[in-house]
Amino acid sequence: MVYLNGEFLPLDQAKVSVLDRGFLFGDGVYEVIPVYGGRMLRWEDHWRRLQDSLTGIRLALPLERDELAGILERLIVAGGHDQYIYLQITRGAPPKRDHAFPADCPPTVFAMASPIAYFPRTEGVRAVTVEDIRWKWCHIKAITLLGNILMRQHAVDVGCAEAILVRNGRVTEGAASNVFVVLKGSLVTPPKSSELLPGITRDLVLELARDHGFHYLEAPLTLADMERAEEIWLTSSTREILPVTELDGRPVGKGGPGPVWRRMDELYQAFKQELREGK
Ligand code: PDD
Repeated sequence: MVYLNGEFLPLDQAKVSVLDRGFLFGDGVYEVIPVYGGRMLRWEDHWRRLQDSLTGIRLALPLERDELAGILERLIVAGGHDQYIYLQITRGAPPKRDHAFPADCPPTVFAMASPIAYFPRTEGVRAVTVEDIRWKWCHIKAITLLGNILMRQHAVDVGCAEAILVRNGRVTEGAASNVFVVLKGSLVTPPKSSELLPGITRDLVLELARDHGFHYLEAPLTLADMERAEEIWLTSSTREILPVTELDGRPVGKGGPGPVWRRMDELYQAFKQELREGK
């Protein structure tokens, strides 16, 4: 069952108009929320980021926080595996195509739950750096993802799992992830700004670092930093903390997942387990 505009229905019966502004313009925002043991990870943070995205595109959601949480909870498959909820809100389907906002048009609200796909966490992945070609409001979780798609596909075309984006000589984030490095033993990630998405996983990793005595900081990262990094990680709701073992064809550190990643991954897995057990 999926949710579409007030109804729960089978996926193949969920239909939206071709005039939907999500379809015509990519005019909407989204969230991806992991679910462990039937519980959403950091729902409050996802709700807050959704509000920020909606404010960023000047769209009002006709649902209260608890109402939306109730809808999403109904989508979670009981006793199921690890899942994620995909939630998308667009500026609706007005009678005619016009770039300017439509008057009196209810937004389209769609949500579904899917299983989280396995990722080779313990082996690590290859990544490639690319020029960040996106617009300047990357803090908004917009469905308009053409830049991200082209950069991710470039990575796939050259045998990599992710593109690491660089703007004006500085790393912003991954095509669909945030970036961390270990430099001289310190964990470093670029500071939040309009150039990157404030990842919920990023925040959780920083919180775990703080609570467990890691040395960490939020600071800009240059390409030279990437070249001398002992470890590089990607973080996202569906990929968790993924070590990058090769960047631009060169091994990162010793070419395998590093010791700092191993410690952080253990903490992250323990956090998930507590959520599963309802602690
Ligand atoms: N993407 N940066 C970008 C551009 C992203 O698309 C994502 C996540 C992240 C990490 O954010 P979080 O930790 O909150 O998942 C950073 C999701 C998973 C997606 O588009 O499927």
